[in-house]
Amino acid sequence: MKSQAFVRYTFHPAVRGGEDDLAVRDLLTALQPAGWQEDDDDRTVRFWLPSGARAPEQEARLTRLAMLGALSSEAQESGWLYGWRRFHHPVTEGVVRIRPPWYPAKSGCLDVVVDTGMAFGTGSHFTTRLCLRALQDVPLGSLVDAGTGSGVLALAALRLGFDPVWAIDNDPVAVESCARNAAVNGLEPHVFLGDVTDARTALPAADVMVANLLRGPLLELARRLRAADAGAWAPTRLLLSGLLEEQGDEVLDALEGYALVRRAVSSGWLLLDCARRV
Ligand SMILES: C[S@@+](CC[C@H](N)C(=O)[O-])C[C@H]1O[C@@H](n2cnc3c(N)ncnc32)[C@H](O)[C@@H]1O
Repeated sequence: MKSQAFVRYTFHPAVRGGEDDLAVRDLLTALQPAGWQEDDDDRTVRFWLPSGARAPEQEARLTRLAMLGALSSEAQESGWLYGWRRFHHPVTEGVVRIRPPWYPAKSGCLDVVVDTGMAFGTGSHFTTRLCLRALQDVPLGSLVDAGTGSGVLALAALRLGFDPVWAIDNDPVAVESCARNAAVNGLEPHVFLGDVTDARTALPAADVMVANLLRGPLLELARRLRAADAGAWAPTRLLLSGLLEEQGDEVLDALEGYALVRRAVSSGWLLLDCARRV
């Protein structure tokens, strides 16, 4: 594989906990959706970005991060893929095993190969794992993966037997990554570019919607579900993640016509499993 120059950023947050913590996580997710490394000391975060000119919004995020702690950077000439590969290991959740292509398949598991590139979704994030688990606890049917990233949830859903599956993302890089991963797995989700919070993006009527988004887009999605057109496509079951534990009530309050089936929590991250009221 080709190696690429990259910049390694090291960040020490000024304070831990509270609003600043949330802001740091939001910034890191936006800066490097593929993942970052948290050292065991709980005070050091490292992430890698390709070297070269950055889009203005990326520069603005780095500036905001630097205001929340000490941020240093170091150019590294090779090994972006090496640096990146260090995060990407197989993840097993129930019967599903997500693996990067450089690990072999394992018998007895539903195998999903994912090579994320710059899109979010190695399978290892707590919220992705919560979703992978929840997909195994709801009845099979049709499914929308809202905010598909690398396609990890859409592809796992197809392997589990959901059909048809739609995979939607508002980031062209993610859409491309999902389509590439689908081809590698020989699976065929309907992949398209769109903003799931925007009424101009027509959403298919599906039994289940899994949405591993952040608080903001989830609140927007809840608002969209309250709107008049939602009757045509509102899913029977909603699996919502990308939330911190303390953000769950706000999203539940914003949802109308759904009852909470259960909450699942992992390392402070939350999944809400909700069913449409009949
Ligand atoms: C946290 S990642 C989740 C990726 C993958 N589903 C997973 O669980 O690993 C969120 C994804 O949602 C996409 N996204 C964020 N807001 C969106 C929106 N309003 N409409 C569609 N996609 C969105 C992002 O581009 C990103 O790929």
